[in-house]
Amino acid sequence: MKKNEMKRIYIDYFVNNGHKEIKNSSLIPDNDPSALYTMAGMHPLTPYLLGEEHPLGQRLVNVQKCIRTCDIEEVGDDCHVTLLEMLGNWSLGDYFKEKSIEFSFKFLVDILGIPVERLAVTVFEGDANFPKDSESYNAWLSLGIKKENIYSYGKKENWWGLGYGGPCGTDTEIFYDNFKPKCSNECGPACSCGKYVEIWNNVFMEYNQVGDNSYESLSQKNVDTGMGFERIYAIVNNKSNLYETDLFSDAIKKLELLSGKNYEDNLKGFRIIVDHIRAAVFILGDENLVVPSNTEQGYILRRLIRRSLRFLKKIECSEDSIVILSKVTIDNYKDEYPLLEIKRDFIVKSLEEESRLFNKTLTKGLKEFNKMTLDCNGYLDSSLSFKLYDTFGFPIEMTMELCMENNITVSIEEFNKRFEEHQDKSRLGAEKKFSGGMGNNDLNTIKLHTATHLLQQALRQVLGRDICQKGSNITSERLRFDFSFDRKLTEEEIFRVESLVNNQINLKLDINYENMTVSEAMEKGAIGLFGDKYEDIIKVYSIGDFSCEICGGPHVNNTSELGKFKIIKEESSSSGVRRIKAILE
Ligand code: SER
Repeated sequence: MKKNEMKRIYIDYFVNNGHKEIKNSSLIPDNDPSALYTMAGMHPLTPYLLGEEHPLGQRLVNVQKCIRTCDIEEVGDDCHVTLLEMLGNWSLGDYFKEKSIEFSFKFLVDILGIPVERLAVTVFEGDANFPKDSESYNAWLSLGIKKENIYSYGKKENWWGLGYGGPCGTDTEIFYDNFKPKCSNECGPACSCGKYVEIWNNVFMEYNQVGDNSYESLSQKNVDTGMGFERIYAIVNNKSNLYETDLFSDAIKKLELLSGKNYEDNLKGFRIIVDHIRAAVFILGDENLVVPSNTEQGYILRRLIRRSLRFLKKIECSEDSIVILSKVTIDNYKDEYPLLEIKRDFIVKSLEEESRLFNKTLTKGLKEFNKMTLDCNGYLDSSLSFKLYDTFGFPIEMTMELCMENNITVSIEEFNKRFEEHQDKSRLGAEKKFSGGMGNNDLNTIKLHTATHLLQQALRQVLGRDICQKGSNITSERLRFDFSFDRKLTEEEIFRVESLVNNQINLKLDINYENMTVSEAMEKGAIGLFGDKYEDIIKVYSIGDFSCEICGGPHVNNTSELGKFKIIKEESSSSGVRRIKAILE
C-alpha cells in the first residue's frame, strides 16, 4: 500500500464515523513558549481540549507532522524517528473510552486486516489517586482481545500528559506483537526487547494538571489518540522495521551509492543520516521560518544537520551528499507537502550553507577531539567540551556521543555552567524544552493573549493598516509581538499605542467569538493571514467594536480583567520587522 493511500483510508474511516478532517499544522506551535516543536497531533488542539468550542465540532481527525526531540538519541533502532506523522482522532466532550476503543479496534482489524492475535493492549491499573480503568479493560475483552493480551500498568506506562501542566489522563495503548519469543517471564508491552511495538495511544483526557501533583477535572471528557504513521505503515506493508518502507528506501539506496557501503553493515549510521535529513527538510520546509542557529528551534535543526554530517563523514561521503539526500526526501514527500517543492531552493541553500560552515571546522575539530582525549584518563573537562562547541561548532550532544563511543565521561552540568558564564542562555532554553511541553493556559497567559489582540489593532490604528503580524510568543510573564514595519517607533507612537490599549481595558469591553467561513471573516474585516492556513469554518474573536481577529482562543471574557498594559521594549527583530515586548501590571 502507498503512503497517501494509507493516510486516506485512515481519514475516510473516521470521516465516515462523523469526524471532520482538520489541517496539518505547522511544526512550530503558535503561541506556545513551553515547547519548541509540535510534538503530538493534540498539541495545536490544546485550547479545545481545555474546553474552547471547536468550529468544526466535537469529532476531529487528521495527519499531523510532529518533531519528537526526545527521540533523537533513540534513532538508529527499528522503530524511532525524529519526524513522525501522527494519525490522530479526537472526541472533544463527545464519545469516550468504549467507543474510542471500538473505533481503533475496528480500524486495525476490519479495515487494515491485522489479525486479533497480533494485538496486545495495556490499561491503567489504578493507584492511590486514580481508579483502575475497568471500562477500557472490559471494552477490549468484549471486542475479542484475550485476557492474557491485556496488560495492566501504573502511571509510568498508562498515563499521558505533559508532566507539568495541561490536559491529561489515563491511556490505553495498542501494541503489535511481532511474535518474537518473550525475552523473559516478565516480558510484556512495557519491555523494550522489541517483541511489542507500540502503534496507537488512546488518551482519555479528563483532567487538567495545574501543579506538580495537582489535577482538576476538566469540564468535558475528551479522547486524544495518536498512531505513529511510520510504524503502522511498516506493519501494513509487511516490513520488519520502518526504515525498510518506501519512506526511507530511496534515500538508503542513494546513500549506498554515495558511500559505496552496504546499509546492512552500517545500520545505525545510515538510519541516523536519512532520519535526520528527513527531519531537517521538513523543518526548513515548514510554513514558519526556521534556520540553523544556536538558539531554540534553530539549535535543534543545527544539531540534526551537524549530526548527519558527522555520520556522513564517518562513511566517507562527499560534502554534497546531504543536499543530494535532501532532494530525495523532497521528491518523496512533495505531493503530500507541496511547500517542500515551493521551498526547495531555500532548503537546499540552507543545508549547503550549514554544511559549508560546519565542514570548515569538522575535520579540525575531530582532530582536536582525538588530541584532547589521548591522555584524558577517561574524563573530558568542560573547558574542552566548551572549546569544541565554541571554536569548532560541536553541539554538546555530539561531543557526548563521541565521548560515549570512546568510553569517556563528559559532564553536561559542567558544560552548562560554563555556558551560562558565557551568557548564551538560549541554547539551554532549547534543551529544557526538548521533552516538549504544552501550551501554557494559565490565566496570565490568556490575559496576555487578549492584550496581544488589542496591541495589534492599536498598532494598525497608530502606524497604518498595512502592518501585519510576523510572530507572536506569549509566556505567563510577557507578550512578544513581531510585526512588519521598517523603522523604530517614536516615543510618541509608543505612548499612543499603550494609551489606546489601556483605553479599551478601561472601557470594560466584552470578548466574544463567532464561527464563520473565511470569506465571511474577510467581509467582516477580521485580521488574519487568509492563506491556505485556515479550516473551512473558523473562529473570529471580537473585542467590543475595537478588534476583530481570526483566532482559536482562549481569551478572557472582558477587557477589565487585564490590568494595566505597558510596553517594556521596542526593537528590531529582523530586516523590516519590529518587535514589541509588553506586560500587564
Ligand atoms: N497525545 C498522545 C501521544 O502523543 C496521543 O496522541 O501519544
